[in-house]
Amino acid sequence: MNYWNQFLWVIFPYMMIATTIIGHIYRYSTDQMDWSSRSSEFLEKKTLRWGSMLFHYGFIFVFFGHVLGLLIPESFITNNIGMNNETYHKIAISFGGIAGIATVIGISILLFRRYGNKKVSKTSSFNDKFIIVLLVLVIGFGIYNTIFYNLTTTGDFNYRLSISPWFRSLFIFSPDPSLMVHAPITYKIHVLLAFLTFGVWPFTRLVHVWSLPIAYIKRRHIVYRRRCGEVK
Ligand code: HEM
Repeated sequence: MNYWNQFLWVIFPYMMIATTIIGHIYRYSTDQMDWSSRSSEFLEKKTLRWGSMLFHYGFIFVFFGHVLGLLIPESFITNNIGMNNETYHKIAISFGGIAGIATVIGISILLFRRYGNKKVSKTSSFNDKFIIVLLVLVIGFGIYNTIFYNLTTTGDFNYRLSISPWFRSLFIFSPDPSLMVHAPITYKIHVLLAFLTFGVWPFTRLVHVWSLPIAYIKRRHIVYRRRCGEVK
Protein backbone atom coordinates (compact mmCIF):
# COMPACT_ATOMS: atom_id res chain seq x y z
CA MET A 1 0.00 0.00 0.00
CA ASN A 2 1.68 3.27 -1.04
CA TYR A 3 2.11 6.18 1.35
CA TRP A 4 -0.45 8.32 -0.49
CA ASN A 5 -3.25 5.79 0.08
CA GLN A 6 -2.13 5.37 3.69
CA PHE A 7 -2.41 9.14 4.10
CA LEU A 8 -5.80 9.54 2.36
CA TRP A 9 -7.61 6.52 3.87
CA VAL A 10 -5.95 6.17 7.30
CA ILE A 11 -4.03 9.29 8.50
CA PHE A 12 -6.36 12.00 7.11
CA PRO A 13 -9.65 10.45 8.41
CA TYR A 14 -8.13 9.95 11.90
CA MET A 15 -6.74 13.52 11.83
CA MET A 16 -10.22 14.85 11.04
CA ILE A 17 -11.90 12.68 13.70
CA ALA A 18 -9.34 13.84 16.31
CA THR A 19 -9.78 17.49 15.25
CA THR A 20 -13.55 17.27 15.54
CA ILE A 21 -13.42 15.67 19.03
CA ILE A 22 -10.78 18.07 20.43
CA GLY A 23 -12.40 21.01 18.61
CA HIS A 24 -15.84 20.33 20.11
CA ILE A 25 -14.39 20.00 23.64
CA TYR A 26 -12.42 23.24 23.17
CA ARG A 27 -15.40 25.13 21.68
CA TYR A 28 -17.81 23.89 24.37
CA SER A 29 -15.47 24.77 27.21
CA THR A 30 -14.51 28.23 25.85
CA ASP A 31 -17.44 29.46 23.78
CA GLN A 32 -20.82 28.17 25.03
CA MET A 33 -22.53 31.51 24.42
CA ASP A 34 -21.92 31.18 20.70
CA TRP A 35 -22.91 27.48 20.53
CA SER A 36 -25.79 28.15 18.18
CA SER A 37 -26.80 28.38 14.55
CA ARG A 38 -26.62 32.18 14.89
CA SER A 39 -29.69 32.44 12.70
CA SER A 40 -29.89 35.37 10.31
CA GLU A 41 -33.67 35.00 10.08
CA PHE A 42 -34.21 38.59 11.20
CA LEU A 43 -32.21 39.77 8.15
CA GLU A 44 -34.10 37.77 5.55
CA LYS A 45 -36.92 35.27 6.23
CA LYS A 46 -38.55 33.98 3.04
CA THR A 47 -35.57 32.42 1.21
CA LEU A 48 -34.18 31.10 4.50
CA ARG A 49 -37.46 29.30 5.22
CA TRP A 50 -37.42 27.47 1.86
CA GLY A 51 -33.69 26.78 1.84
CA SER A 52 -33.56 25.61 5.45
CA MET A 53 -36.70 23.44 5.23
CA LEU A 54 -35.59 21.62 2.05
CA PHE A 55 -32.04 21.17 3.33
CA HIS A 56 -32.90 19.92 6.83
CA TYR A 57 -35.77 17.60 5.86
CA GLY A 58 -33.79 16.26 2.90
CA PHE A 59 -30.68 15.72 5.00
CA ILE A 60 -32.53 13.81 7.74
CA PHE A 61 -33.36 11.12 5.15
CA VAL A 62 -29.87 11.28 3.61
CA PHE A 63 -28.39 10.79 7.10
CA PHE A 64 -30.45 7.66 7.78
CA GLY A 65 -29.64 6.43 4.26
CA HIS A 66 -25.95 6.71 5.18
CA VAL A 67 -26.48 4.89 8.49
CA LEU A 68 -28.17 2.06 6.56
CA GLY A 69 -25.62 2.00 3.73
CA LEU A 70 -22.43 2.53 5.75
CA LEU A 71 -22.98 0.99 9.20
CA ILE A 72 -25.12 -2.08 8.45
CA PRO A 73 -23.19 -4.78 6.53
CA GLU A 74 -24.72 -5.80 3.17
CA SER A 75 -24.77 -9.46 4.28
CA PHE A 76 -26.95 -8.58 7.29
CA ILE A 77 -29.58 -6.92 5.05
CA THR A 78 -29.42 -9.71 2.46
CA ASN A 79 -29.54 -12.58 4.98
CA ASN A 80 -31.89 -11.11 7.58
CA ILE A 81 -34.16 -8.85 5.58
CA GLY A 82 -33.83 -10.86 2.35
CA MET A 83 -33.26 -7.76 0.25
CA ASN A 84 -30.76 -8.41 -2.54
CA ASN A 85 -28.27 -5.77 -3.69
CA GLU A 86 -30.24 -4.86 -6.80
CA THR A 87 -33.43 -4.09 -4.86
CA TYR A 88 -31.41 -2.19 -2.25
CA HIS A 89 -29.80 -0.03 -4.92
CA LYS A 90 -33.15 0.70 -6.59
CA ILE A 91 -34.54 1.90 -3.23
CA ALA A 92 -31.32 3.85 -2.46
CA ILE A 93 -31.35 5.58 -5.85
CA SER A 94 -35.07 6.45 -5.64
CA PHE A 95 -35.45 7.52 -1.99
CA GLY A 96 -31.80 8.62 -1.63
CA GLY A 97 -32.18 10.47 -4.91
CA ILE A 98 -35.32 12.36 -3.86
CA ALA A 99 -33.87 13.21 -0.43
CA GLY A 100 -30.57 14.13 -2.04
CA ILE A 101 -32.25 16.46 -4.57
CA ALA A 102 -34.19 18.22 -1.76
CA THR A 103 -30.88 18.59 0.12
CA VAL A 104 -29.07 19.95 -2.96
CA ILE A 105 -31.82 22.49 -3.76
CA GLY A 106 -31.99 23.54 -0.08
CA ILE A 107 -28.24 24.06 0.36
CA SER A 108 -28.02 25.89 -3.00
CA ILE A 109 -30.76 28.32 -1.89
CA LEU A 110 -28.87 28.87 1.39
CA LEU A 111 -25.61 29.43 -0.58
CA PHE A 112 -27.14 32.06 -2.88
CA ARG A 113 -28.71 33.72 0.14
CA ARG A 114 -25.43 33.71 2.10
CA TYR A 115 -23.48 35.28 -0.79
CA GLY A 116 -26.27 37.06 -2.69
CA ASN A 117 -28.19 38.85 0.06
CA LYS A 118 -26.19 41.98 0.99
CA LYS A 119 -27.24 42.10 4.66
CA VAL A 120 -26.71 38.38 5.22
CA SER A 121 -23.40 38.41 3.35
CA LYS A 122 -22.10 41.40 5.34
CA THR A 123 -22.90 39.74 8.68
CA SER A 124 -21.43 36.38 7.67
CA SER A 125 -18.00 35.28 8.96
CA PHE A 126 -15.36 33.56 6.79
CA ASN A 127 -16.34 30.25 8.46
CA ASP A 128 -20.00 30.77 7.57
CA LYS A 129 -19.14 31.28 3.92
CA PHE A 130 -16.54 28.48 3.83
CA ILE A 131 -18.72 25.78 5.44
CA ILE A 132 -21.65 26.41 3.11
CA VAL A 133 -19.43 26.05 0.00
CA LEU A 134 -17.95 22.86 1.50
CA LEU A 135 -21.44 21.42 2.14
CA VAL A 136 -22.52 22.24 -1.43
CA LEU A 137 -19.48 20.31 -2.73
CA VAL A 138 -19.98 17.30 -0.40
CA ILE A 139 -23.69 17.09 -1.24
CA GLY A 140 -23.08 17.77 -4.95
CA PHE A 141 -20.64 14.84 -5.26
CA GLY A 142 -22.96 12.72 -3.11
CA ILE A 143 -25.96 13.24 -5.35
CA TYR A 144 -23.79 12.80 -8.47
CA ASN A 145 -22.75 9.38 -7.12
CA THR A 146 -26.26 8.28 -6.17
CA ILE A 147 -28.04 9.35 -9.32
CA PHE A 148 -25.66 10.02 -12.20
CA TYR A 149 -22.87 7.52 -11.45
CA ASN A 150 -25.31 4.70 -10.67
CA LEU A 151 -27.57 5.45 -13.65
CA THR A 152 -24.94 6.25 -16.25
CA THR A 153 -22.27 3.65 -15.61
CA THR A 154 -22.79 0.00 -16.31
CA GLY A 155 -20.01 -0.58 -13.81
CA ASP A 156 -21.01 -2.74 -10.90
CA PHE A 157 -19.37 -0.59 -8.23
CA ASN A 158 -20.98 -1.58 -4.93
CA TYR A 159 -19.90 0.90 -2.25
CA ARG A 160 -21.31 -1.44 0.41
CA LEU A 161 -18.48 -3.92 -0.33
CA SER A 162 -15.71 -1.30 -0.26
CA ILE A 163 -16.44 2.17 1.21
CA SER A 164 -18.78 0.87 3.94
CA PRO A 165 -16.40 -1.84 5.39
CA TRP A 166 -13.55 0.71 5.14
CA PHE A 167 -15.64 3.27 7.07
CA ARG A 168 -16.46 0.68 9.75
CA SER A 169 -12.81 -0.47 9.89
CA LEU A 170 -11.84 3.04 11.09
CA PHE A 171 -14.03 2.72 14.19
CA ILE A 172 -12.64 -0.69 15.21
CA PHE A 173 -9.12 0.76 14.86
CA SER A 174 -8.08 -1.69 12.14
CA PRO A 175 -8.29 0.61 9.10
CA ASP A 176 -8.06 -1.15 5.72
CA PRO A 177 -7.09 1.46 3.06
CA SER A 178 -6.98 -1.19 0.30
CA LEU A 179 -10.79 -1.16 0.31
CA MET A 180 -10.80 2.43 -0.97
CA VAL A 181 -8.12 2.22 -3.67
CA HIS A 182 -10.45 1.10 -6.47
CA ALA A 183 -13.45 3.28 -5.56
CA PRO A 184 -14.50 5.71 -8.36
CA ILE A 185 -12.88 9.15 -8.01
CA THR A 186 -16.22 10.94 -7.40
CA TYR A 187 -16.89 8.66 -4.40
CA LYS A 188 -13.36 9.29 -3.08
CA ILE A 189 -13.82 13.06 -3.38
CA HIS A 190 -17.20 12.85 -1.63
CA VAL A 191 -15.72 10.91 1.30
CA LEU A 192 -12.62 13.15 1.67
CA LEU A 193 -14.74 16.33 1.57
CA ALA A 194 -17.10 14.77 4.14
CA PHE A 195 -14.20 14.09 6.52
CA LEU A 196 -12.92 17.64 5.97
CA THR A 197 -16.43 18.81 6.95
CA PHE A 198 -16.20 16.74 10.16
CA GLY A 199 -12.79 18.36 10.87
CA VAL A 200 -13.97 21.97 10.56
CA TRP A 201 -17.38 21.25 12.13
CA PRO A 202 -16.60 22.49 15.69
CA PHE A 203 -15.37 25.85 14.35
CA THR A 204 -18.58 26.61 12.46
CA ARG A 205 -22.29 27.14 13.13
CA LEU A 206 -22.84 23.39 12.44
CA VAL A 207 -22.41 22.93 16.21
CA HIS A 208 -26.11 23.83 16.45
CA VAL A 209 -26.79 20.23 15.36
CA TRP A 210 -25.92 19.03 18.87
CA SER A 211 -28.12 21.58 20.62
CA LEU A 212 -31.29 19.52 20.87
CA PRO A 213 -33.98 21.82 22.29
CA ILE A 214 -34.51 19.49 25.28
CA ALA A 215 -34.69 22.48 27.66
CA TYR A 216 -37.72 23.80 25.80
CA ILE A 217 -39.78 20.77 26.87
CA LYS A 218 -39.10 21.50 30.58
CA ARG A 219 -39.24 25.26 30.23
CA ARG A 220 -42.03 27.07 32.10
CA HIS A 221 -44.75 28.61 29.97
CA ILE A 222 -44.30 32.24 28.97
CA VAL A 223 -47.55 34.08 29.77
CA TYR A 224 -48.19 37.18 27.73
CA ARG A 225 -50.46 39.72 29.46
CA ARG A 226 -51.97 42.82 27.88
CA ARG A 227 -51.21 46.04 29.83
CA CYS A 228 -54.27 47.56 31.61
CA GLY A 229 -56.12 49.97 29.35
CA GLU A 230 -54.22 48.72 26.24
CA VAL A 231 -56.51 48.86 23.16
CA LYS A 232 -57.30 45.42 21.66
C1 HEM B 1 -21.01 15.77 5.86
C2 HEM B 1 -21.22 14.52 5.62
C3 HEM B 1 -21.96 13.99 4.40
C4 HEM B 1 -22.94 14.55 3.63
C5 HEM B 1 -23.55 15.93 3.76
C6 HEM B 1 -23.32 13.57 2.61
C7 HEM B 1 -24.29 13.78 1.64
C8 HEM B 1 -24.63 12.85 0.68
C9 HEM B 1 -25.73 13.00 -0.26
C10 HEM B 1 -26.68 14.20 -0.31
C11 HEM B 1 -25.77 11.88 -1.04
C12 HEM B 1 -26.79 11.56 -2.15
C13 HEM B 1 -28.10 11.07 -1.58
C14 HEM B 1 -27.96 9.71 -0.92
O1 HEM B 1 -27.61 8.74 -1.61
O2 HEM B 1 -28.21 9.63 0.28
C15 HEM B 1 -24.69 11.02 -0.62
C16 HEM B 1 -24.39 9.81 -1.20
C17 HEM B 1 -23.36 9.00 -0.77
N1 HEM B 1 -22.54 9.20 0.34
FE1 HEM B 1 -22.53 10.80 1.53
N2 HEM B 1 -22.55 12.43 2.75
C18 HEM B 1 -21.71 12.65 3.83
C19 HEM B 1 -20.79 11.80 4.36
C20 HEM B 1 -20.47 10.59 3.79
C21 HEM B 1 -19.45 9.69 4.31
C22 HEM B 1 -18.59 9.97 5.54
C23 HEM B 1 -19.43 8.60 3.48
C24 HEM B 1 -18.59 7.35 3.54
C25 HEM B 1 -17.57 7.15 4.30
C26 HEM B 1 -20.44 8.81 2.44
C27 HEM B 1 -20.71 7.94 1.41
C28 HEM B 1 -21.68 8.14 0.45
C29 HEM B 1 -21.95 7.20 -0.64
C30 HEM B 1 -21.22 5.89 -0.87
C31 HEM B 1 -22.98 7.74 -1.41
C32 HEM B 1 -23.61 7.18 -2.70
C33 HEM B 1 -24.67 6.18 -2.37
C34 HEM B 1 -25.11 5.43 -3.62
O3 HEM B 1 -24.34 5.22 -4.53
O4 HEM B 1 -26.29 5.06 -3.62
N3 HEM B 1 -21.05 10.03 2.66
N4 HEM B 1 -24.01 11.63 0.43
